Amino acid sequence: MTTLEIPVLIARKRDGGELTGDELRAFLGAYLRGEVEEAQVAALLMAGVIRGFTDAEAVALTEVLVASGDTVDLSALRGPTVDKHSTGGVGDTTTLVVAPLLAAAGAQVAKLSGRGLGHTGGTLDKLEAIPGFRVDLSADEVASQADRIGLAVAAATQDLVPLDKKLYALRDVTATVKSPGLIASSVMSKKLAGGAQHVLLDVKSGDGAFMEDPAEAEALAELCVRIGEAHGRRTGALVTDMSQPLGDGIGNAIEIAVAIEVLRGERRGDRLTRASLALAAAALQLTGVPEGQAAETVARLLDDGSALERFGAFVAAQGGDPSVVDDPRAVLPVAPVTLPWIPAAGTVHGFSCRRLGELAARLGAGRQRQGDQLDLSVGLEVGVRTGDELDGDTPAVVVHARTEDDAQGVIAELADVIHLAPEPADPVELVQARVGLD
Ligand code: URA
Repeated sequence: MTTLEIPVLIARKRDGGELTGDELRAFLGAYLRGEVEEAQVAALLMAGVIRGFTDAEAVALTEVLVASGDTVDLSALRGPTVDKHSTGGVGDTTTLVVAPLLAAAGAQVAKLSGRGLGHTGGTLDKLEAIPGFRVDLSADEVASQADRIGLAVAAATQDLVPLDKKLYALRDVTATVKSPGLIASSVMSKKLAGGAQHVLLDVKSGDGAFMEDPAEAEALAELCVRIGEAHGRRTGALVTDMSQPLGDGIGNAIEIAVAIEVLRGERRGDRLTRASLALAAAALQLTGVPEGQAAETVARLLDDGSALERFGAFVAAQGGDPSVVDDPRAVLPVAPVTLPWIPAAGTVHGFSCRRLGELAARLGAGRQRQGDQLDLSVGLEVGVRTGDELDGDTPAVVVHARTEDDAQGVIAELADVIHLAPEPADPVELVQARVGLD
């Protein structure tokens, strides 16, 4: 493609036209080779964010992304191979409950995960809170461990969808993350490259998510499902609430402790338990298990300790201290200071969920920039949800911090982040839509 054609393609997108798969391939191929300037790619991205990408463009973009690097071959595994992906949220530790549930049900989960950025946490950071845990497995180690014990979670290598890494960094600094076509192609390219035959997406909606509006989140879920199915993967999605934290923990070691408490059956009925069961059942349904039977199976595998046993085997296989499953809070790193926040009596009317994630990041649980060092022990424990009535005596939040000053700084802001009022409020529906599952 000559340099002259690039501005013509950008102009076509700017004016509401469509680019063909060949044009997108040529444009982004030239970018990868360093023949197109970042400013030109940023202009194309912004034109697409404003005008919208068509389904055909999103499918083509996904293909270009997958073709930019290595893919994982899981065809030798007994199967069914399952992958689960969340679009990112606050206190969202479902992977660590759903993957052992699926392993206990006989599926194989070979998961390549990422690190946290901004207000959202990352599975790899959380797992590294377990002393000794290794996330740097080779692709062969991931596949053979998934075959042996049903689950493996490792860092995606630099060679898996490298174009997504470049584009994501550019989107991050050009306000072009929030586009259904770009998010769906980014998410689905990594799922397709990861090799699983069944893909379950947890698309978040609410203040703590990329898509705040449930209808927008559902449209994103539908687009992801269409892309997955167009590539021969059985794909489904749940749209779930992210207007408030999902699990009670926000912060790496705290989230691991909470996930293990869910697996130990100590948090029955809480939102993280219910979301994990719904996601695991939906994933089993994708593998051909009827809906009612899938729900019964995952509930039984949580109750009888099978999922906890799989989690212990997974921790041991990746070098972590397996006694973490017996007494997580004795094994995981603990912050030097814990301070409660006890608000006056009232009812919880809602959260600034993103800000809650940012407060945990400010304590040291998250990074502002790629490469920032984390403190795996710090974070927040949030014991209330929208609709809860507070008595004025019980802590709503416990802050885990490095210093008293850090903890007091966060406590000073909590009244702006958790909204209380005297009148009653309704709880928010957890699962807001099911896509591709009926
Ligand atoms: N998660 C991704 O992997 N990509 C996006 O673009 C947004 C969320």
